[in-house]
Amino acid sequence: MKVGILYYSKTGHTLAAAKAIAEGIKQEGSQVDIINANTLEIAILKIYDGIIFGSPCWGGCITNNGVATPITKALNKLEKNSLKDKIAGVYTIYAIKGGEKTNKTLVNVIAKKGCKKIMEGPIVKAGAVLSIGKGSSISDQDIQLLKHFGQSFVK
Ligand SMILES: Cc1cc2nc3c(=O)[nH]c(=O)nc-3n(C[C@H](O)[C@H](O)[C@H](O)COP(=O)(O)O)c2cc1C
Repeated sequence: MKVGILYYSKTGHTLAAAKAIAEGIKQEGSQVDIINANTLEIAILKIYDGIIFGSPCWGGCITNNGVATPITKALNKLEKNSLKDKIAGVYTIYAIKGGEKTNKTLVNVIAKKGCKKIMEGPIVKAGAVLSIGKGSSISDQDIQLLKHFGQSFVK
């Protein structure tokens, strides 16, 4: 299985999570690429059997959305049913509160792109309020959780 992890990360935590998920995927013998949403060439997504979307929580505790703008922009580029026959996954990094909202929004938006299955991945705490500075790193325990998500995604 070939997997793409599409992420956006301002202070590095969502990228660190992508790397942990990628490690789990590779441990199972699958291939993985980590793709920055800001440099996404939409056509490349065709080559993947599975795509995992990773977003930091942006305003999840105060808005009805919670997804970081660069991820929303990437999702807006994906036409309806463009993920047909693919498996999709989501995960979220949040600092204080609202990560569930982000993950749910990702699931709801991706469901409209026609994928055959969506796996809701971890909602992990790291970083600082409004990403002012780097804040705390992802705990070792959550790194294991993310690796495990990568493994189960390709099983
Ligand atoms: C514009 C903006 C809005 C944010 N809103 C929230 C929020 O509602 N709840 C929360 O827990 N963290 C919020 N954060 C903090 C990030 O989710 C957190 O710092 C995360 O670890 C950043 O991930 P990154 O290092 O991959 O950018 C916000 C950050 C930014 C920049």
